[in-house]
Amino acid sequence: MERWNGRVALVTGASVGIGAAICKVLVGAGMKVVGAARGVEKIQELSNSLKKEKGSLTAVKCDLTKEEDIRHLFKEIKAKFGGVDVCINNAGFTYSKSLLEGTPTEWKNMMNVNVIAVCLCSKLAIQSMKERGVDDGHIVNVSSVAGHVILNMPEVHFYTATKYALNAVSEGLRQEMRELKSHIRISIY
Ligand SMILES: NC(=O)c1ccc[n+]([C@@H]2O[C@H](COP(=O)([O-])OP(=O)(O)OC[C@H]3O[C@@H](n4cnc5c(N)ncnc54)[C@H](OP(=O)(O)O)[C@@H]3O)[C@@H](O)[C@H]2O)c1
Repeated sequence: MERWNGRVALVTGASVGIGAAICKVLVGAGMKVVGAARGVEKIQELSNSLKKEKGSLTAVKCDLTKEEDIRHLFKEIKAKFGGVDVCINNAGFTYSKSLLEGTPTEWKNMMNVNVIAVCLCSKLAIQSMKERGVDDGHIVNVSSVAGHVILNMPEVHFYTATKYALNAVSEGLRQEMRELKSHIRISIY
């Protein structure tokens, strides 16, 4: 982690759960972390509790279903910190409804957060790295067991579809970066 000391990380879904835990670890390692979510107050509380750590946590309000919010998030990061070196696409959710119960609006929202926002954040993060000649950046996409096996659990069937799609776009992006002979890494967990 030493090489990331002082570098800039974006963590989506930073308000609670795994995203908040990732923020703590990265701030402890000395990174300048930008945490994004709709629940910005929770990120601010977390930031306050991390004041004595080596790094910092900056809260930015962002609804990942809104393209303009994502573009604004990257503008804020550029203005405050210059750009993104590490982008952790952690935000993801499910309505926990079977395919027979779910609605098109719910499916679209899940696709927007779990897949489309990941694609746009990754694209803008790579643009930011390239602009600044950063060739050791890292994109990390948080998938799920549900991204690797179709479980007989109706309440996660559409979620599973989004995580399979996430795996597909992650591998696609990895191949695009390899084609460009870039050292920016794309990982999926
Ligand atoms: N927990 C598990 O057992 C588990 C297992 C496998 C994979 N995962 C994956 O791990 C990741 C994190 O899971 P978690 O359990 O920590 O989830 P969580 O506790 O439910 O937190 C989800 C995060 O995503 C954010 N989010 C949801 N919709 C958003 C939107 N429209 N705009 C911006 N942010 C949004 C939430 O922030 P706001 O509501 O404040 O906006 C929250 O910070 C997800 O991708 C999930 O699929 C989790």
